[in-house]
Formats: sequence, structure tokens, C-alpha cells
Amino acid sequence: MSANKPKNQRPLLKWAGNKYPIIDIVLASLPKGKRLVEPFVGSAAVFFNARYERYLLSDSNGDLINLYRLLKQHGDRFIDYARSLFEPDNNRAEVYYLLRDEFNRQHDDPDDPMRRAALFLYLNRHGYNGLCRYNASGGYNVPFGRRSSVYFPEAEMRFFISIAAQAIFQQQDFAHCMRHSKPGDVIYCDPPYLPLSATANFTAYHRDSFGLHQQAQLAQLAKDCAARGIPVLISNHDTPLARELYADAQLQTLQVQRNISCKGDGRGKASELLALFKD
Ligand SMILES: C[S@@+](CC[C@H](N)C(=O)[O-])C[C@H]1O[C@@H](n2cnc3c(N)ncnc32)[C@H](O)[C@@H]1O
Repeated sequence: MSANKPKNQRPLLKWAGNKYPIIDIVLASLPKGKRLVEPFVGSAAVFFNARYERYLLSDSNGDLINLYRLLKQHGDRFIDYARSLFEPDNNRAEVYYLLRDEFNRQHDDPDDPMRRAALFLYLNRHGYNGLCRYNASGGYNVPFGRRSSVYFPEAEMRFFISIAAQAIFQQQDFAHCMRHSKPGDVIYCDPPYLPLSATANFTAYHRDSFGLHQQAQLAQLAKDCAARGIPVLISNHDTPLARELYADAQLQTLQVQRNISCKGDGRGKASELLALFKD
């Protein structure tokens, strides 16, 4: 365990569904082990605050993993480079859309991973409400965030650099990540949420991303891992379907304040589940 990791560090990215608001509950519910595996790492709020010897942090979002790798590899050099994009004059819609276009042109020509990572950080902090969204051709399409000022997350990046040597970062699907876990690992899964109301178009709407099939596959993989002696904690909305999928797990319920409502009806509290699969 790393002894001097202070608690409640904020992640460097704004990320829809990030677990910073409930970090103490997630940490208290995670079993002990040597290595923490996060197949849906997102903004890595759990990594920033957990205490394991080693970490495997993965996500299907290649831009996210590229940013983490670059920051780990280049440290201060990356921070200095990224800072230049956070000039107050760059907090304007015209500049945002120019830089977003540049980012999207890089999609076909990812020659300069450092520039792409810095642009991703700029877009994340200047864009709308911590959303990360791409169109069908892979173009980043989050609108300008219209904030009066934008925070440059230097302290958060420095903290990340101080702990990143313990972690490896991989772009991969959650199923691949979980199948390659080993005894001694503890897995924390924070998948895209199940919808609060099971609408008829759920599977169609999510056809190309994370739909019912993936939610069921995740629950099955969690059972398989638990049978191999690898505990798995999953967080999700508390819905009848979640309770069905996680019927074999120990369940804990909590109320969470959310800024982005999946119902599209503004901000509010949602009931969430923590499901622990453990033999
Ligand atoms: C709710 S967010 C995780 C939030 C994270 N725990 C945090 O604190 O920021 C879900 C993540 O799952 C990732 N994701 C979506 N589909 C995936 C898949 N098939 N395999 C792996 N990751 C996936 C998304 O890119 C996103 O980062």
C-alpha cells in the first residue's frame, strides 16, 4: 500500500458519472487486494483516492488513455504544453470550435499524440458539462461550455504524475480486461448507467455503444471472476433490471446527487447500487 496518498483528490478531467461525489463509499466497499483493475476508468476518481500497490486502468476511449499515458511519460513537459491552450482568450466559442476542428482532423492522422492529448484536455475543460461524446464518424461533437472562467487542473495533473508509476493504462473493451484479470486483483466496474426507466428503444438506442447486451455480459463476467477468486464491485443505477442482473451479489443502496440526468429532466438525486460479487 502507498502510505502517503492523501485522500479525496479531485480528478483532472470533468467526467459525466464520475465517482468523486461518492468516493468514500466506493472505497469502503472495495475489498483489499494487491492490484486494483478498473475496466471503465473514466476520470479515474477511484485511482486518485484508492490505496493499492498496483493498478490496471483501462477504458474503451482511446483519447482518454492517450492523455494518461502522455502525462505519465512526459510529466511537467506535458503540463507546460497543455497550459498554453488554457489562455483566457481561448475561452471563447470561436476558438473552441477551431480547436475542436483541429482535434477532429487529427482523428485521421494521429501523428502528434501530445497535441491530441492537450486538445482533449482543453475540450474536456472548455466543453459542456463534462460530456465526452463522438458522432458516428468518430468526430468529437460536444458544444462549447460557456463558462465564465476555466480551471487549469495543474495540481490534479501533478498528483496524477506522482502516483502514475504504479499504474498501467490500456485502451480495451471491458470484457477483454476482465477476462485477463488474475487472482490477487480486485475489480471495480463503473459502466455507463442502465437507463432509469427501461424504455422500449433502449437496446436500439445503445446499439453501437453500451446496451443491454453489454450490461448482461458484464454481470456474467463478474460472476465468472468471483468464481476464480477475484472480487468485483459494480456501481449502477438502482433499477429492477440492475437488481435482476446483480441477483447473486451483495447489494448496497445509496442516494447520489447528479448533474446530468439520464431522463433529460435536469439535475436531481438518483438511487444507485453497489453490487459486490465475491465467492
Ligand atoms: C461512468 S464512466 C466511468 C466513470 C469513472 N468511474 C470516474 O470516476 O470518472 C463509464 C466509462 O466507461 C467507458 N466505456 C464505455 N463503454 C465501454 C466498453 N465497452 N469497454 C470499456 N469502457 C467503456 C466510457 O468511456 C467511460 O469512461
